[in-house]
Amino acid sequence: MTAKIRFGIIGCGVIGLTHAAAIQSLPDAELIAVADVIPASAHKLAEQYHVTAYENAQELLTHEHLDVVEICTPSGMHGEFAILAMRAGCNVIVEKPMEITHERMLEMLAVQRETGVKLAVVSQHRFDEASIQVHKLLTERALGRLVLGNAAIPWWRSQQYYDSGAWRGTRELDGGGILMNQSIHAIDILQWLMGRVKTIKAYTDTLVHDMETEDVAVAVLRFESGALGTISATTGAYPGVTTRIEVYGNQGSAIIEADKLGYLHLARDEQEAAGAYGGGGNQAAPVESVDTSTTSDPAALSANTHALQIADMMAAIREGRAPLVDGEAARHPVEIILGIYESARTGKEITLS
Ligand SMILES: NC(=O)c1ccc[n+]([C@@H]2O[C@H](COP(=O)([O-])OP(=O)(O)OC[C@H]3O[C@@H](n4cnc5c(N)ncnc54)[C@H](O)[C@@H]3O)[C@@H](O)[C@H]2O)c1
Repeated sequence: MTAKIRFGIIGCGVIGLTHAAAIQSLPDAELIAVADVIPASAHKLAEQYHVTAYENAQELLTHEHLDVVEICTPSGMHGEFAILAMRAGCNVIVEKPMEITHERMLEMLAVQRETGVKLAVVSQHRFDEASIQVHKLLTERALGRLVLGNAAIPWWRSQQYYDSGAWRGTRELDGGGILMNQSIHAIDILQWLMGRVKTIKAYTDTLVHDMETEDVAVAVLRFESGALGTISATTGAYPGVTTRIEVYGNQGSAIIEADKLGYLHLARDEQEAAGAYGGGGNQAAPVESVDTSTTSDPAALSANTHALQIADMMAAIREGRAPLVDGEAARHPVEIILGIYESARTGKEITLS
């Protein structure tokens, strides 16, 4: 395929704008059309990029020949539109989370297999240099035996944020609060680095906001490898502090903070052994230029890492391979979150299948 790859967007809200900017930044990509049930949103984005606007997703799929459709609607509608687009013969990039129930994710996977198109789910932090570097070290077993993996997401979202869209913070369309919406990024990176989660024990609550779903959560994990871990997350921590992902092994430690490598120490690089009492964290590299913008403002997101993930889909189409974050990969962070909800609701330890 030498021609430009033709894109459409369904859902022209906050993240739809990021996708449009990301597509435009890629020389081999061309935005053709956009759709939104709110006519003004579709027309505004279409005018900005000189493309066609539709007020109905099915019309966009019927009238345009698109290679890739990007689904940027509220989370509980991802499956519906992804399935429509896959059945129309288009490759699909779905915003995170893949969907909000097991059943709909399985249906999406079945339709992907049946149609043979490609299905990717946005997890843009897998394309951050720090995540790639730590993942590579883990595939080389450079941290030794993993013992502990933690993700902390102490973010802030105002009540105004939750009131800005009728779907935000609802069970039916957001599928959850701080975990299903904001923390899924860090949870995906944690399980990408540490491996699959086996069991979960968790608490969730809604302490600060007037909303249906949780704004604070703590979970204790046991990974399939035997390592332990934690997730602690809230949208009630004013003014919003950086996300921190920690991976500890008996041969090394790595900390990703604000999407950058904040600390890395490997036994294999040492001149002298750490000795019986170790380094006690004294060798931490300072975190350079911490960007805290999205910890309090979701619209502050840069389109760069979205562009990297869209470029991965384009390469997958050209090379006849699966995208890096395909439907099967994207299912697992959602399964962890659903397991946390079940544990918090029942008080029981949950085993993931
Ligand atoms: N990857 C990221 O960092 C990131 C950041 C923000 C949001 N998101 C995800 O993107 C999705 C959208 O979030 P948002 O903040 O852009 O929400 P939003 O409310 O700003 O935008 C959603 C858009 O979908 C449109 N829509 C609703 N129903 C529709 C329908 N039936 N047909 C066509 N359009 C329809 C709405 O009118 C709205 O314009 C969510 O799943 C969210 O989790 C991802």
